[in-house]
Amino acid sequence: MLQGKNVVLGVCGGIAAYKGVELLRLLVKAGANVHVIMTRGGTEFVTPLTFQTLSGNPVHTELFNLITEQEIGHISLADRADLFIIAPATANVIAKIAAGLADDLLTTTVMATKAPVLLAPAMNVNMYRNPIYKENEAKLRRHGYLFADPVSGYLACGWQGEGKMQEPEMILEAAFAALSQKDLSGATVMVTAGPTREEVDPVRYISNHSSGKMGYAIARAARRRGARVVLVSGPTSLTPPAGVEFVPVESAMQMRENVLQRASGCEVIVKAAAVADYRPRERAGNKLKKQGEGMTIELVKNPDILRELGEAKRPGQLLVGFAAETFDLEANAAIKLEGKNLDMIVANDVSAPGAGFGVDTNIVRLLFRDGAREELPLLTKDEVADLILDRIVALREGSL
Ligand code: PMT
Repeated sequence: MLQGKNVVLGVCGGIAAYKGVELLRLLVKAGANVHVIMTRGGTEFVTPLTFQTLSGNPVHTELFNLITEQEIGHISLADRADLFIIAPATANVIAKIAAGLADDLLTTTVMATKAPVLLAPAMNVNMYRNPIYKENEAKLRRHGYLFADPVSGYLACGWQGEGKMQEPEMILEAAFAALSQKDLSGATVMVTAGPTREEVDPVRYISNHSSGKMGYAIARAARRRGARVVLVSGPTSLTPPAGVEFVPVESAMQMRENVLQRASGCEVIVKAAAVADYRPRERAGNKLKKQGEGMTIELVKNPDILRELGEAKRPGQLLVGFAAETFDLEANAAIKLEGKNLDMIVANDVSAPGAGFGVDTNIVRLLFRDGAREELPLLTKDEVADLILDRIVALREGSL
């Protein structure tokens, strides 16, 4: 999403300036061409050379600099920006921007830009709670400035509380969101992800290889695109995306209960979870003891959550399923599409290299109710997620 985009990164005078270096690294890794502007205070904490080396571009510090003005010009920097990030943004700089002051390179360039501006405040807790700061922040929000809100923690000044700059990964996520079109705003999207665990006894369970990556990518992308997102997830090692309502579950029965409870309030439901089709008839209260050469565990069928959702689907609601297959991919997926009353199914040959469980990429085919089909190449799960959401948006708009 940041590939080839021009990002201007403003760095102000605060101890969190060192985290600005990590943010720069993440932005560059994501493909952005980053131009750094530092305030004089910023240069007291980290040297411009650090930012210059990592960005591969000259760092700008002075409003009137004969050489850089001739080469690039501060207005040109403002014009070129696809996105403007200030991290850390001090109370002072936020106050200046709110007051329309333009007395240094950073504030002048911000004022001249038409790009979205994302501020990552960092300050002492009492400054952050100061009503004058709050008024400045509220004014900027009214004017469309975006904020990566600070978090609570130990502050460099010795106090504890809000004011600690958001982690660079979260600011990057806010940057992605700032550049995403908000074509799902107003919609509630429920996504299921990960495996389920069906307990055999207190120490053993039946499960599968789902890592949750596919479902989490869909939840993250839907959130970026403005949806209210509910993520119902089986056990994974992933961090839930910022800003989503996270509902952790273990078993298929727990997933069913939580999904069905929330389904009627959702405009879109995407079931990427790998739900166990069977569970042990009984969960032993104590650890099962080794005995004899063999062992039989009797399994009973779990309810098919997606089928139940399909039966209860309300008008206008969109239901998208996944089909994990190892043979007859399209034929099997088409049966699930029809039988579960879905609008679209994502057919996933989980035996193909680079596709399915655990990996960061996927190869899928999209099948629709009118018989249309689309074969996607090997893509990252983030790219697959956005393509699935593109089709969901088109189905909602009736243009597909
Ligand atoms: O999590 P990752 O490691 O990123 O891997 C991604 C994935 C392979 C898990 C994902 O891309 C995928 O294919 N998910 C669906 C896995 C699956 O359970 O497929 P299925 O063909 O068995 O089920 C069909 C559909 O019915 C699925 O949407 C499933 O969520 C749903 N289902 C299945 C059984 C059940 N009891 N209830 C259900 O709702």
